[in-house]
Amino acid sequence: MTSFSCNAILSGRAPADAPVTLKGWVRTRRDSKAGLSFVHISDGSSFHPVQVVAPAALANYASEVQKLTAGCAVEATGTIVPSPAKGQPFEMQATDLKVVGWVEDPDTYPIQPKPHTMEFLREVAHLRPRTNSIGAMTRVRHTLAMAIHRFFHENGFLWIHTPIITAADAEGAGELFRVSTLDFANLPRTPEGKVDFTKDFFGKEAFLTVSGQLNVESYCLALSKVYTFGPTFRAENSNTSRHLAEFWMIEPEIAFADLAQDASLAEALLKYILKAVLDERGDDMAFFEERIEKGVIAKVQAIVDKEFVRMDYTEAITILESAKQKFEYPVKWGTDLQSEHERYLAEKHVGGPVILMNYPKEIKAFYMRMNDDGKTVAAMDVLAPGIGEIVGGSQREERLDHLDARIAQMGLDPHGYGWYRDLRRYGSVPHAGFGLGFERTVAYVTGLSNVRDVIPFPRTPGNARY
Ligand code: 4AD
Repeated sequence: MTSFSCNAILSGRAPADAPVTLKGWVRTRRDSKAGLSFVHISDGSSFHPVQVVAPAALANYASEVQKLTAGCAVEATGTIVPSPAKGQPFEMQATDLKVVGWVEDPDTYPIQPKPHTMEFLREVAHLRPRTNSIGAMTRVRHTLAMAIHRFFHENGFLWIHTPIITAADAEGAGELFRVSTLDFANLPRTPEGKVDFTKDFFGKEAFLTVSGQLNVESYCLALSKVYTFGPTFRAENSNTSRHLAEFWMIEPEIAFADLAQDASLAEALLKYILKAVLDERGDDMAFFEERIEKGVIAKVQAIVDKEFVRMDYTEAITILESAKQKFEYPVKWGTDLQSEHERYLAEKHVGGPVILMNYPKEIKAFYMRMNDDGKTVAAMDVLAPGIGEIVGGSQREERLDHLDARIAQMGLDPHGYGWYRDLRRYGSVPHAGFGLGFERTVAYVTGLSNVRDVIPFPRTPGNARY
């Protein structure tokens, strides 16, 4: 018997003239007075489950079929026929319904066929993929990831697998998780009493990467158009709906390029990947529209259709200073923008995505290129309505003397950046790149407002279960 997925069956790709098998998990079971059971089976391949009609004539009808509950694993075999029921093109008339795995105690099974709060589902992160919302999110997340790789591949970029373990603080912000094999109860000490990291696995302190950027720059300065897409780690104690301690980031880097080209690349990437979701995930997006955020489809469509407005940081400050809205954090030139400011600009002032450029050097990372005014750097953030910053990027400082001055000004240890300085000593060129936060993108597209609900197993302060 050939197996077919829910997706294949519902899209008419299963044969109508031969029995087929569907393997999956029961969502719901309803018994009709006519002596039939309607069992909805999902295998996660599509938003909608397949309705399997199980007749009382099945040998295990009373002993098993009528005992099926949500979560049971089954193998259904039968014929695919056009469905008389509304909202589903096809259903299966079962000739066999095998139980592969029972649910031990149906009354205490956490995933019941009813809406659950996202907070509750976080407590059962190992079972939540069985819900509509996490299933739909997972398919959208996959589609976004594939579209990202497709976009870069089609545009001649090479995917660089940058390391997870690193010695450098790529952002210079000190939000690092240490990687160590030392015995905490018995740490080796130098004669001065400090921890002796020369005795550690790598012979020096090592950390989980906060960004693949510095490594990807090295490949950019040989292979021209590159990107990295992988997990990154930040020990920032931010307990917000936008911050994770472990999140995925997409970081392209382009050689012989300036900030304007960088901004255009970010806009093109966002438009491409969001369009892919609208094109490929209609059922999932219809669910998010109905159950999670009314208007989410129009919001995503607007990013695809609208040209992103470009604006200088200085102009944004003038707009914010004269805004009628009272902000929790006051703004003036030189302050870092908070989420409330970013959202005001994108939602109230522009009514669409904004690319803010040329920020004061004091609030940005050491590697950003100094502008001729000596006060601002060629940085850019893409701000999206409903979420705020989704992309952070810049043109990089390609001049060694300027880079050294910035490293010194920021009190960073130049020894830690020796190899990075080499890139400026040997054939340096203007180059630029950015980081797109993957979870913030998934949250934006699905309307799920907390990044903890768009990554399989979220890591946040005090939470590393599973
Ligand atoms: O602005 P960030 O810190 O930029 C960098 O890491 C650069 N090295 C990127 C580059 O130029 N190659 O982070 C980039 C994006 C943010 O805009 C945000 O979307 C996301 O990463 N991000 C987070 N997402 C979830 N949780 C966190 N703690 C995040 N911190 C940043």
